[in-house]
Amino acid sequence: MITPQQTAQPEQEKRLAARAALRWVRSGMLVGLGSGSTAAFFIAALGESIRQSDLQVQATATSLASEALAQQAGIPLVEPRRGLRFDLTVDGADELDAQLRLVKGGGGALLREKVLATASDYLLIVADSSKVVTQLGRFPLPLEVVPFALPWVLDAVAALGGAPVLRSMKNDSMEAARSDQNNFLVDCHFEAVPEPERLALHLQGIPGIVEHGLFLGLAQAAVVARGAEVLVLQPGKEPVAAASFSIPL
Ligand code: 5RP
Repeated sequence: MITPQQTAQPEQEKRLAARAALRWVRSGMLVGLGSGSTAAFFIAALGESIRQSDLQVQATATSLASEALAQQAGIPLVEPRRGLRFDLTVDGADELDAQLRLVKGGGGALLREKVLATASDYLLIVADSSKVVTQLGRFPLPLEVVPFALPWVLDAVAALGGAPVLRSMKNDSMEAARSDQNNFLVDCHFEAVPEPERLALHLQGIPGIVEHGLFLGLAQAAVVARGAEVLVLQPGKEPVAAASFSIPL
């Protein structure tokens, strides 16, 4: 079990995990690019690698913000189309447990993130050590919600014990935050989610929830940095040092 580093330096850990994920990338791959600060480090490192070597990849991003970063980094982008499958998607997470069940969507990109995760043969999570938990739920679970449905979604989530809060913009305007699809984002304070699969089924049955931030059975591996140490986690297995991990791609 990984415990968060006492003197955690999340930014340095994020950078280390993101750099280590480059080992999964092969020339000719179609790569999904995640969202958030750790994914941003990966995008920058991938761009650098493309510029400094003969690495050739194409990519699609999970948010408008990551798309802009990829363009700046010189990563060739492809538009969504039928039949498109990704060899690898590299994305961050807000929480991950020993089975690599995830909470995602802290950055509001959960819908596109789940679309690409589902369209990928391999989802690799990159994270600092603070993201590893024994039980999901302390991080508020994000939902993307159609604006018209908001009042009923709030009622239904409250009935499930999720204490929903409509996310507002980070500035002081109190204006509701919007996803890249112009939907609302709702953060649900469950505090503990002992049965994520059961909760996911409940949430899928509530009309107006476009997507929820539980990513179950989607991640193949996670690269987690703890201090200067970088480990690879796989569902239900002991962590392995990233440097000695044999990459199955
Ligand atoms: C965005 C996400 C991010 O991957 C998640 O919030 C982690 O972000 P960070 O790497 O900045 O800690 O799910 O929707």
